[in-house]
Amino acid sequence: MFQRDLLAGKRVLVTGGGTGIGKSIAHRCLELGAHVAICGRRREVLDATKAEFDADVPGRTAVHACDIREPDQVEAMLDALFAEQPPDMLVNNAAGNFLARSEDLSPRGFDAVTRIVLNGTANVTLGTGRRWIAHGRGGSVVAIVTTYARTGSPYVLPSACAKAGVETMMKSLAVEWGPKGIRCNAVAPGPFPTEGAWERLVPNAGLESAWKKRIPMRRFGEHRELADLVCFLLAPQTGYVNGDTVTIDGGEWLRGAAQFAFAEDLTEEQWAAMAPKKSRG
Ligand code: HXC
Repeated sequence: MFQRDLLAGKRVLVTGGGTGIGKSIAHRCLELGAHVAICGRRREVLDATKAEFDADVPGRTAVHACDIREPDQVEAMLDALFAEQPPDMLVNNAAGNFLARSEDLSPRGFDAVTRIVLNGTANVTLGTGRRWIAHGRGGSVVAIVTTYARTGSPYVLPSACAKAGVETMMKSLAVEWGPKGIRCNAVAPGPFPTEGAWERLVPNAGLESAWKKRIPMRRFGEHRELADLVCFLLAPQTGYVNGDTVTIDGGEWLRGAAQFAFAEDLTEEQWAAMAPKKSRG
C-alpha cells in the first residue's frame, strides 16, 4: 500500500505499544522505516515486544515503562526521549475498558478508565506538544478513539465519555497548534480483536458471531488495516489533514443507525409479496 520508506527517519512514540493494536501500529511504523518508542505499564511486556521487533527490524525500538496516568512518569519519559531522540510523531493508543452496567460502577471504576484514556492522553499529548513548541518543531499526533465516542454506548460509559473527550482534545489542539506545525487527528475503529480488550468486552463466542452479523462487511477488522490508516495520517504526505477523525469499522456504526437495516432479515417470500404486481397484457 505504501512506499517502504514512507516513515524513514521519523521517530514515533506509541503509547500502549507493547500489546494489542498499539503493538501492531508500532510494528507497521518500523516496517515503513521509522524508529519507534513504545511505552506501557509493564516492563517485561515491553521487553518481550522489543525482542520480537528487534528480531524483525534490528535496533530501531526503544521502550519506556510508564503509566500514562501519572504526570511525573510521563514527564520523566518525555525528558528522556527529547534528550536523546525527540519524537516527530505521537500515537495515543493506550486505553482501558471493561463491560459493566453503569449503575454498578464505583467511583474508582469510573476513574480507572477515564484516568487512562482522557487524563493519560492529555498528559502525553500536552507534554509532547509543549516540547515540540519549545524546540520550534512541528509534529503529527493520531489518537485512537472509537465510533461510540460519537454515538455514546451503553455498558462502557467511562470509555465512551473519555474517548469523546479525546476526540474533542484532538480537534481543539488541531486548531490551537496548527499554526505551530502540529497536526492532530483521530482514527475511530470498530472491532479489531485483541486479547486484552476481547477478554474484557466479549464474554462469549455467541456474542461475537451476533456482533459480526451487525457489520456490513460481516467481519472484524484486521490490525494491518488499522495500522496502515494510522501511518497514512501520521505521514507528512497527509500534511493538510488536521482535526479530522477517520472511521474504520466496515460500516458498523452507520448500520446501527440506518432505519431500514432490519429489512435484511426479510425472506424472499416477503420481498416477493411486497413487489409490484405485474399487470397483464
Ligand atoms: C466493574 C471494575 C471492573 C469490571 C475493574 N473495575 N474492572 N468494575 N466491572 N469489569 C473497578 C474495580 O473494582 C476498582 O474499583 C477499579 O475499577 C479499579 O480497578 P483496578 O483493577 O485496580 O484498576 P487497574 O489495575 O488500574 O486497571 C485498569 C482497568 C483494566 C481499566 C480496570 O481493565 C486495565 O488495566 N485495562 C487495560 C487494558 C484494556 O482495558 N484494554 C482494552 C482497551 S479497549 P473498586 O471501587 O472496586 O476499588 C478500548 C476500546 C474498545 O478502549 C473498543 C471495542 C470496539
